[in-house]
Amino acid sequence: MNIKSAKFLVSNTNVKDCPKTDKREFAFIGRSNVGKSSLINMLTGQNKLAKTSQTPGKTQLINHFEINDSWFIVDLPGYGYAKVSKTQREKFGQMISGYLLHRENLITTFVLVDSRLEPQKIDVEFMNWCGEKGIPFSIVFTKIDKLSSSELQKNLARYKKELLKFWEELPPVFTTSSESKFGREKLLNYIETLL
Ligand code: GTP
Ligand code: MG
Repeated sequence: MNIKSAKFLVSNTNVKDCPKTDKREFAFIGRSNVGKSSLINMLTGQNKLAKTSQTPGKTQLINHFEINDSWFIVDLPGYGYAKVSKTQREKFGQMISGYLLHRENLITTFVLVDSRLEPQKIDVEFMNWCGEKGIPFSIVFTKIDKLSSSELQKNLARYKKELLKFWEELPPVFTTSSESKFGREKLLNYIETLL
């Protein structure tokens, strides 16, 4: 898919205030610092569209970006990062669950996980929660530029094995690097199939 335009539209703390629209929407979610905002910039080809930072907790609001004047990307705060205060974690948690449960034009969610790490309890619990609530999602492994291909294969296999303890089938899985732009076409083409 060709990205002709990508514009920041609005930030909100509550799903109730998000744009009233029928346009299809895709959200990016995951632990703080996993690379959500960087991935949005990589996909849209605009380095400064979503704010990124080395410090976890950078994205604090529900951010809407309009793509090709016809659909939305949403950047969300991260969940469950230990270095973010408990109060902030709870606030982000409510914002995220409210958004996911009540956003009617949300087509699917991309759950980002750091490809370098072994399966994190919080990510698996989050995916299981999405399953219970009937929220469709895909898994996006991030930062693959930091691994050799054999390490990546090993980590992907370990992750899939863990998820198959809970699930009969795996959701779609993508591998990405915002540094090398790996995975861009596949992810955009997948979105295109859902537009
Ligand atoms: P919060 O908004 O705090 O929840 O974080 P986020 O998930 O939006 O992460 P962000 O995109 O701000 O990236 C966090 C850090 O990881 C930044 O220093 C990025 O440069 C780095 N980063 C993100 N994606 C990649 C990647 O694919 N490869 C490498 N090497 N670094 C990445
Ligand atoms: Mg962010």
